[in-house]
Amino acid sequence: MSDQAAQIVTVDPTAPDTDTLERLGAALRGGALVAFPTETVYGLGADATNPDAVARIFTAKGRPGDDPLIVHIADLADLAMVTGRPLIDLPPVALRLAAAFWPGPLTLVLPRGPAIPDIVTSGLPTVGVRMPAHDVALGLIAAAGVPVAAPSANRFGHTSPTTAEHVRVDLGDRIEWILDGGPCAIGIESTILDVTQTPQVLLRPGGVPVEAIEAELGSAIARRARQVASGGAAASSPGQAVTHYAPRARMVLVEGDDPVAVRMRMVAEIRACAATGERVGALVPAEWVAAVRAAGAVLVWDLGSALDTTTAARRLYAGLRMLDGAGVAVIMAASFAESGLGLALSDRLWRAAGGRVIKA
Ligand code: TXA
Ligand code: MG
Repeated sequence: MSDQAAQIVTVDPTAPDTDTLERLGAALRGGALVAFPTETVYGLGADATNPDAVARIFTAKGRPGDDPLIVHIADLADLAMVTGRPLIDLPPVALRLAAAFWPGPLTLVLPRGPAIPDIVTSGLPTVGVRMPAHDVALGLIAAAGVPVAAPSANRFGHTSPTTAEHVRVDLGDRIEWILDGGPCAIGIESTILDVTQTPQVLLRPGGVPVEAIEAELGSAIARRARQVASGGAAASSPGQAVTHYAPRARMVLVEGDDPVAVRMRMVAEIRACAATGERVGALVPAEWVAAVRAAGAVLVWDLGSALDTTTAARRLYAGLRMLDGAGVAVIMAASFAESGLGLALSDRLWRAAGGRVIKA
């Protein structure tokens, strides 16, 4: 942990200054922690081949050691280094998906090579790898000349950061550098797919919709039921414990197939909470804002138009942070239809709600 506040360096997200990237790349190579923007969320980077540097990620975040990190690369050739085998020896499906979706919000779980130390993968024989679609991230990784291990740049248990300011609030006194490349375009984390198994297994829905992966493969991938495990050995995917994104407020998710019924139920719940004197916040589509305000919600975060999941994803984490920081007692949200980005949105809301669901 550093004694001083992190230095924040602002860069143009589409044409980042080369000298800055070289300087921070060298810092990474030297063992420093550098937070950087990606298209999904901000990452907290360390040299993935340096176990001491990676250990500092866990300390800075307060993250348990049994939650493996994603390794970020800037060039397909680095996949051979990370997996310890020539590309030709990787599952053909992995190369096909990499060609289709990289750079982009897809993490592939693959066999791990000897260059990646145990601490990165919590001792697992596999490693999660992705190539982010962000010029700052790609330039930084290339400048570092090493693969970069990076979890989301938040304190453990907080929502993922989608701006440099979110990173500063969570980690500003614990890391050396924050690269500010503006807000993240996608706003929720990458899709994680285990391609060491057939059929491939979806470990976390995210920025690349399942439908797009299945269309590329021409076959179905395996999904798993939501898990109410609280973590550790009970969670069948490491780091996918239900309370992963939990806000301090009590969050409640209203679910149902009929949006009108869901909205009516939410309005009724807000009225009931407000009547007991609780301060209620809501995270809702634009079309619902007036109704939930009228029902007594004191703070309302607009996720954008109801069918626009792209905007909802981009606004989700900032909204959770705002409502939680404002100290409301209850946060009400509605789930999304589970297609496209809606699957990942509902997953994050469900986790943030700690599995607290009201069926409408
Ligand atoms: O979009 C993203 O993926 C962001 C940006 C920074 O790239 N990163 C991110 O990292 O979300 P993090 O640490 O918050 O989530 C990584 C998750 C772990 O919690 C675990 O569930 C999964 O990735 N994971 C990593 N390596 C794995 C492995 N070898 N096997 C199974 N799951 C793995
Ligand atoms: Mg995270």
